[in-house]
Amino acid sequence: THERTVVRGGLVITAADESHADVLIEGERVVALAATGSDVAAGWQADRTIDATDCYVIPGGVDAHTHMELPFGGTSASDTFETGTRAAAFGGTTTIVDFAVQSVGHSLREGLDAWHEKAQGNCAIDYAFHMIMSDVTEHSLKEMDLLVEEGVTSFKLFMAYPGVFYSDDGRILRAMQRSAANGGLIMMHAENGIAIDVLVEQALAAGHTDPRYHGEVRRELLEAEATHRAIQLARVAGAPLYVVHVSAEQAVAEIAQARDLGLNVFGETCPQYLFLSTDNLAEPDFEGAKYVCSTPLRPKEHQAALWRGLRTNDLSVVSTDHCPFCFVGQKELGRGDFSKIPNGLPGVENRMDLLHQAVLDGHISRRRWIELACATPARMFGLYPRKGTIAPGADADVVIFDPQERYTMSAATHHMNVDYSAYEGREVTGRARTVLSRGAVVVDGGEYLGHAGHGTFVPRATSQYLL
Ligand code: URP
Ligand code: ZN
Ligand code: ZN
Ligand code: ZN
Repeated sequence: THERTVVRGGLVITAADESHADVLIEGERVVALAATGSDVAAGWQADRTIDATDCYVIPGGVDAHTHMELPFGGTSASDTFETGTRAAAFGGTTTIVDFAVQSVGHSLREGLDAWHEKAQGNCAIDYAFHMIMSDVTEHSLKEMDLLVEEGVTSFKLFMAYPGVFYSDDGRILRAMQRSAANGGLIMMHAENGIAIDVLVEQALAAGHTDPRYHGEVRRELLEAEATHRAIQLARVAGAPLYVVHVSAEQAVAEIAQARDLGLNVFGETCPQYLFLSTDNLAEPDFEGAKYVCSTPLRPKEHQAALWRGLRTNDLSVVSTDHCPFCFVGQKELGRGDFSKIPNGLPGVENRMDLLHQAVLDGHISRRRWIELACATPARMFGLYPRKGTIAPGADADVVIFDPQERYTMSAATHHMNVDYSAYEGREVTGRARTVLSRGAVVVDGGEYLGHAGHGTFVPRATSQYLL
């Protein structure tokens, strides 16, 4: 249909500009912006008018790192594509890039098909895929080229998790060489998993079984070392590199140094590293298990380096790494052995609001908020300008965000399918009021108006940050 909607009277914020403008939407697309009160805007006839007075009008969030239904540690992430994308919509996120998984002994194709099967017909908002490569072989290297053509243009490799997702340096180099040739972007989980496994074994043998030891064995130096090694391998291959979920100050320094050399190296961090710390991992009564993820939470002192990296652009994307496991029955698998706690935190619903709180707290500007959460992830992963901005021709993924609404984050009121909130009791100011996905109102005033299957697969171009 070509239903016409006008969003009137809000402050439109993109990564580039802020302006008081009305937004005209036709069908699934934004078709025009005009100054509020101008003759042009006043002349627009519409089937539906959304009043955005006193609100921000922002592009829907692009969360470039989620793991709906991820099988991990003998269990599966508790959000399905249906529940997880609905929660994302409530939080003002209108696109996710999730990770399809190649398992050892299988092809990329089998992994990607399986993830299409999980997502298709179930998503509330649009989605795309990265590919996790767990088995770099002659065959899977060739398959990378085909995936790039199908719009799966980024590949995550792991220096962590030996025996599960892990690739050695030779395999990493080969995948990087292939991506240098086919335009793909390598995403790296940079932790020295071989060394970490030794420390895990030693910790358990010493009776150190509590969740806080998860943080202690996954040493900052082993994140920095792997980050450094990944950068050098990418250099040798002539490939760009995107380092996921950076948490240690020393790893930020490695990325900063590479960027100062002019290398195409990018860093991502996540809200949990900006707002939480090893204090949470040390919570008594096994509560620390709620905060077990990898890379791990770090001592509070690291947060300043992360905020600084977000300002200097040594860190250029904030994604959630949303990978929820319930405390009861899932996190509890690791009672008596922290290494059996499934790794991951929920957060897909919280990211836009936490980063807006960072604006209020003086860490970043409003436009930087939109850049980190919408525009740069869209550009990085070949979704821009269809996603990540409000401009003629872009998808009408538009959020009317009330910067004044104050609320308390809680598992009692969130929409993620997980029995705890990593931010339980945290007060934030600012919240998505109305959320449009490709022109359809999917959330309005706390009510879900969308439907499973509205969200479609979005094939991606190659990264717009390639030289
Ligand atoms: O702990 C985490 N991050 N779980 C998800 C898998 C990954 O490494 O991103
Ligand atoms: Zn990872
Ligand atoms: Zn992840
Ligand atoms: Zn629909």
